[in-house]
Amino acid sequence: TNMFTYDEGYTSTASCKSDITYIDGEAGKLMYRGYDIAYLATQKSFLDTAYLLINGELPSKSELDDFALEMKKRSFVHEGVKKLFDSFPDAAHPMAILSAGVSALSTFYFDHLNIKDEKEYSEMANRIVAKIPTLAAFSYRYSNGLPIIYPDINKGFTENFLYMMRSYPHNYIELKPIEIKALDTIFTLHADHEQNASTTAVRNLASTNAHPYAAISAGIGALWGRSHGGANESVIRQLEMIGSVDRVDEFIAKAKDKDDPFRLMGFGHRVYKNFDPRATILKNIRNELMSELGISSELVDVANKIEQIALSDEYFVSRNLYPNIDFYSGLILQALKIPKEMFAVIFVIGRTPGWIAQWSELNQQKSVKIARPRQLYRGPKERTPEY
Ligand code: CMC
Repeated sequence: TNMFTYDEGYTSTASCKSDITYIDGEAGKLMYRGYDIAYLATQKSFLDTAYLLINGELPSKSELDDFALEMKKRSFVHEGVKKLFDSFPDAAHPMAILSAGVSALSTFYFDHLNIKDEKEYSEMANRIVAKIPTLAAFSYRYSNGLPIIYPDINKGFTENFLYMMRSYPHNYIELKPIEIKALDTIFTLHADHEQNASTTAVRNLASTNAHPYAAISAGIGALWGRSHGGANESVIRQLEMIGSVDRVDEFIAKAKDKDDPFRLMGFGHRVYKNFDPRATILKNIRNELMSELGISSELVDVANKIEQIALSDEYFVSRNLYPNIDFYSGLILQALKIPKEMFAVIFVIGRTPGWIAQWSELNQQKSVKIARPRQLYRGPKERTPEY
């Protein structure tokens, strides 16, 4: 007999108790450690938010300065890691390279397997948050055959990443403050989202006492999936496929047609049945960025028309299908000249402090139950072997 509760995809099972992130999907509310996401995204930097997630409190001015300096000093990766890159094929996806790179870091920092005190914890956390953007930029440049650009310790966290992505060696391209602000906001908005698939992967590994960087690498693997971190890439692909404003109505009709599997990418959410609070913030940033950079494109016009129709159409309104974070982040990243295959990588950079906070919350518990769900067996009953 089957004595377990069946809850496919754990839609009604809480897997842990947590102090980190609060979501109220009905109200469209998201908070990290009690701070509203809109406050963090508009008044604070990504580094403030990363510090908050990792340490539980927002940093003071001097704590933030120290943290920013730590990020700069720890942003370099061991030269040996670069050799690993040489063994990958040219066409390797940056997410595959990144997850291998992070996994490789566990060979250099093996002692993080047994973290004993606050100091060791913070060293482990700072190290990975600082090195991920470097590995991310390297993975992009490597997969395009471009020379690797080392971090510049004179630059801030987000500027440094854009610099490593877009610059030529010894020839820095001036970045506009709005470009840095837009990417910094994207990082903040992705920093945590309670027990989503990749965070669950990270916590499952934490429950077995795995190495923290092995857990982060597993999180990257989960985030690579099209239904998770890959959604904003699908939004851009879909907008490109629709191509022109006069074809929008045709695709809206397809999305509403029950016999047609076509869905409008960037609409709807499993948890938010109201406006995704992250989407509202990104919409403002997108508008600011587009007008400051003077970008106008058919793609943006197509997106605007879809948004305008969906927000007033009975089909979408009655099903609470609002634009989600991915609807806006793809257009912003494109305006920042970040190629589509890097969108999920950007998500990883933002999510790393959240994963680390979740890993540590579980790791610091006095007793940890290993994640070990049961199942409803439906295979054959015992069979009589033939001798
Ligand atoms: N376009 C058209 N119809 C839709 C859409 C859509 N994007 N999303 C949901 N529906 C309809 C669906 O057909 C169903 O209609 P009915 O009740 O008549 O059968 C109803 O809305 C409820 O849909 P559901 O699939 O039961 O909702 P869900 O909560 O299981 O799915 C979702 C949420 C995000 C998977 C889905 O809305 C979707 O596929 N959206 C498009 C993909 C997308 O943008 N994904 C990114 C999500 S945000 C990522 C993140 O936070 O990490």
